[in-house]
Parts: sequence; structure tokens; C-alpha cells
Amino acid sequence: MTSRPLVAVLNGPNLNLLGTRQPEIYGRTTLADIERRCRVVAQELGLDIEFRQSNHEGVLVEHIQELRGAAAGFVVNAAAYTHTSVAVRDALAACDAPLVEVHLSNVYAREPFRHHSYLSDIALAVITGCGPLGYEFALSALAHRLVPAPTLS
Ligand code: DQA
Repeated sequence: MTSRPLVAVLNGPNLNLLGTRQPEIYGRTTLADIERRCRVVAQELGLDIEFRQSNHEGVLVEHIQELRGAAAGFVVNAAAYTHTSVAVRDALAACDAPLVEVHLSNVYAREPFRHHSYLSDIALAVITGCGPLGYEFALSALAHRLVPAPTLS
């Protein structure tokens, strides 16, 4: 059996509160719901995934470093660190694997400090404002890159 590409789905601070955190902005779906859905979609797309959340910048950086060479792609909702963290950006840039940046809310329809991202210019794609579906779109975009298309006979 051939091995399936590993995609790391990384979530930054406060995303552990999804479901109860500002539901008018982020909805009622929990991070556990998103993980379950990602696992189903990844299976269908021919990807292996690992799914993580941390409230700590250094933990995220160390985790990204551990995935260097092992992860074929990244789906990243860095949450507030999107707008502040050169360290998360540098760690992802050092991985040399495609990255899709995801935000549940449309960051461009919100406060100006959310309009700048340290990740967008090193990302394959940015998906913002699609809610939890954004994670599924991101996995599809990566699968399109990483999983060989079946040959037509
Ligand atoms: C977020 C948007 C960020 O601006 C915010 O800090 C978050 C969540 C989103 O998914 O919409 O925590 O990344």
C-alpha cells in the first residue's frame, strides 16, 4: 500500500473555545466538530492528517519544527498569531511544504489590525469567511497538489 501524504492542521490561540466564543462571529461549531469533519474529508481525499491546537506561540513553533520534512502540507488557522507572529511564519517558511491559511470569519470585514497577515504571502491560498467549511476547502486544495490524480484508462 502506498503511503498517504500527511497534512498538519494547526490551530492557534482561543480556537479551543469555538462553539461558545463569540458565536455571532465564529458560529456554534466546536473545534472537535471541525476535527471530526476534517478526518472524514481527509480520508475521502486520500490524505492523512494530524490536528492540533495550542494557545502558545512557542508550542506551535516547536510543533511545526517537528513536522519539518514529515508534513507534506499545512492547513493553518493561526488565529491572533496570524497578525503578530514572525516566529510562526518563519517556522512554516522553513518547512518548504504548501500552506493554506484559514480563517473562520472574514478578517477583511473586521478590525483593520486583522487585515495584515504574516502568512498570506507565503501561502498557496487564503480562505477567509467560509466558517468551518474553509478547513475542508483547504484540504481539497492541498489534495489537488499532493495526491496523484487517478490515471484514466
Ligand atoms: C480567526 C481570525 C483572527 O483574527 C482571530 O484572532 C481568531 C480567529 C478566524 O478564524 O476567523 O482568533 O483566525
